[in-house]
Amino acid sequence: MASQRGLGVAVIGTGKMGADHVRRLHEVISGARVAAVADTEPERAKSLAATIDGCTAYTEPAAAMASGEVDAVLIASPGPAHEAALVDALGHDLPVLCEKPMTPDTASSLRILEAEQRLGHRRIQVGFMRRYDAEYVKLKELLDSGELGAALMLHQRHRNLAMPPGFTDEMLITSSVSHEVDATRWLLGQEIAAVTVHKPKATSLAPAGLNDPQFILLETASGALVDVEIFGHCGYGYQVQAEAVCERGTVRIGDEQGPRVSADGRWGGHVPPDYVERFEDAYDREVQAWVDATRRGEITGPSAWDGYAAAAVCEAGVASQREGGRVGVELAERPGFYA
Ligand code: NAI
Repeated sequence: MASQRGLGVAVIGTGKMGADHVRRLHEVISGARVAAVADTEPERAKSLAATIDGCTAYTEPAAAMASGEVDAVLIASPGPAHEAALVDALGHDLPVLCEKPMTPDTASSLRILEAEQRLGHRRIQVGFMRRYDAEYVKLKELLDSGELGAALMLHQRHRNLAMPPGFTDEMLITSSVSHEVDATRWLLGQEIAAVTVHKPKATSLAPAGLNDPQFILLETASGALVDVEIFGHCGYGYQVQAEAVCERGTVRIGDEQGPRVSADGRWGGHVPPDYVERFEDAYDREVQAWVDATRRGEITGPSAWDGYAAAAVCEAGVASQREGGRVGVELAERPGFYA
């Protein structure tokens, strides 16, 4: 297990998120060090490894995990590559923090649930970092306190400056709205029963063929209604907001990051360009909590079940996107293992 030098982490995938997690583990997180990086692009892994003492570059994630130098794995490769990396990590009985989506669909997510249950103990945490954002945590505490009564509705907005080339309608749900899906399940403490996707008039600023923005209606098991605006090309920054409407009050988060500046007859503030800046503190807290729990021999945070449940809701969302109308979420029975 973790030596005195700290938990030796292999970071799989060193693109935008992976490189940021490598920086975080190296510079911000205590009790961990980057022991290995793996990327199918050899130069990307090599140049990153060269900046960190004792870090080895691999092109095969499996080779990094088999090296004997690694105590834990952080997966930040693209979603379709997650299943293979998770299976390798479970094969070596290594704790994993896997970026969302755990896997891209329910069939592969169910295979991961089965593999983890066969191992006999939980090893997987899924990277739904909003659960570590200070404002989301306060909102959750307020809802759980019962002070405002039951939550009846949740309004959520998720706006991006622009999406990378090749971003599809489907990815607006599976890659972006998956965060609101997990936030909803976590905040309201219940599963989502049905999804309806509406496509308003598309912005002329999105690539041709992309239906952007989209409006998603989630119905929870208790009948609470949750709407999500996903807007991939709002053009002014990255903005994530939520408002819970409860029996005895409402709570809004994400309105202002501050500071508010007044000058030249105007007032205003800064809208972050992307999630790396907006959720920097949440990623830090997420990774630190994962490292701390792993060193104690525990697994905390969103589980493989949460990864599967999000995939099931997103699958229903994609079906509604394609065929129109309301689509029920088909969820397997929750194993006691994930109680
Ligand atoms: P990216 O495309 O910038 O980087 C992916 C990297 O993985 C590339 O360097 C690529 O060469 C490498 N790669 C591809 N296949 C691989 C394989 N089989 N094994 C090892 N490396 C492989 O992608 P990005 O934006 O960094 O996303 C990575 C993951 O992080 C995705 O699962 C994505 O959904 C998630 N993500 C999570 C966010 C969050 O807020 N939690 C925000 C953005 C992304």
